[in-house]
Amino acid sequence: MKTRAAVLRGVGQDFEVTEIDLDGPKAGEVLIRFVAAGLCHSDEHLRNGDLAPRFPIVGGHEGAGIIEDIGPGVTRLKPGDHVICSFLPVCGHCRWCSSGMSNLCDLGAGLLDGAMPEGSYRFHQGGEDIGGMCMLGTFSERATISEYSAVRVDDDLPLDKVVLIGCGVPTGFGSAVHAAATEPGDTIAIYGVGGIGINAVQGAALAGARNVVAIDPLVNKREAAEQFGATHSCETAEQAHELIYQLTRGVGADKAIVTVGIVTPEVVTSAFAAIRKGGTVVVTGLADPMKNTIQLSGAILTLFEKRIQGSLFGSGDPFHDIPRMVELYRAGDLKLDELITATYTLDEVNQGYQDLLDGKNIRGVILHAGA
Ligand SMILES: NC(=O)c1ccc[n+]([C@@H]2O[C@H](COP(=O)([O-])OP(=O)(O)OC[C@H]3O[C@@H](n4cnc5c(N)ncnc54)[C@H](O)[C@@H]3O)[C@@H](O)[C@H]2O)c1
Ligand SMILES: [Zn+2]
Ligand SMILES: [Zn+2]
Repeated sequence: MKTRAAVLRGVGQDFEVTEIDLDGPKAGEVLIRFVAAGLCHSDEHLRNGDLAPRFPIVGGHEGAGIIEDIGPGVTRLKPGDHVICSFLPVCGHCRWCSSGMSNLCDLGAGLLDGAMPEGSYRFHQGGEDIGGMCMLGTFSERATISEYSAVRVDDDLPLDKVVLIGCGVPTGFGSAVHAAATEPGDTIAIYGVGGIGINAVQGAALAGARNVVAIDPLVNKREAAEQFGATHSCETAEQAHELIYQLTRGVGADKAIVTVGIVTPEVVTSAFAAIRKGGTVVVTGLADPMKNTIQLSGAILTLFEKRIQGSLFGSGDPFHDIPRMVELYRAGDLKLDELITATYTLDEVNQGYQDLLDGKNIRGVILHAGA
């Protein structure tokens, strides 16, 4: 069949919205019609060269939609089911999946290649194979994906809102709740208030942090942070440092979470200086893997027993966390509708990324045709 999709062909190029060929589902796979796709900074990393995928690749890894067909052997999903996609596939039986670390599933190795778990591609054009970002490619009207990547949800949920539970919400929320293990009374510093950082703010507030200090140079981001549970917001890391030491009587923050768009040694160093003895810096934001973005004093690490913790998908289990966050949304404890600053058509995908780079959006969302 044919589908319209936003394809990246090389570093520095814009997304090209074009009609491509799509194979139907093989064993263990499902055909999905995407209703909505979120614009996360990780796809921008592919475009600007910070993360190097296999090109060409259909962008998009935050998605929700409706199953239209299933391949042989699929038992967990049927046509008509509504799903939120997990940007990490979960096979359920590798070492990591079977020991409560399914966010580290071995299938994650293929995310930037974008082939199916068995190694072949479902998107094609002119005889060339095209991958799908994170084995999804949510910037396509339809895609064939692994059943390992789709979490079934109730039919009455607004897919154009719960789409954010495919990446931004569990990543940010889990960075605060799982990776930072926020406890009641904690002081938490969050560097960078985009689609990830705002959910770290929500997570820290919901976990009972006494002080949630959000740091972002942009005033609209700081205002949003305060609406989502930040008790304080600062324009610079220096201002935050001073405030945190005042708030904690010279002790420092219990945890700091780095969710800036491009991680730099400076921001990690600021976070490391802001935490107390025995405190943790969670690094969730990404940068070029060839760059050493963590440059710290080992002696301070040792003598103050500070910790640095990386976090992928908020260090949670997608098939557990996605349904749980849906329930938090239903209960009114987790805000989603208010996170969506702007919506776009698929053809406006490049404008959506320009708005992300210009700092306009908390989260932008593509609404697919017919949604
Ligand atoms: N680890 C994971 O599982 C995971 C998942 C998704 C995204 N990410 C990464 O998380 C990062 C954030 O993604 P996003 O979609 O929220 O990005 P975004 O562009 O929407 O937001 C980034 C924010 O950081 C702010 N910022 C930039 N430099 C800053 C600084 N020095 N101090 C404070 N704030 C600063 C920007 O003003 C912006 O508001 C990206 O690197 C993305 O690739 C990681
Ligand atoms: Zn993402
Ligand atoms: Zn696995």
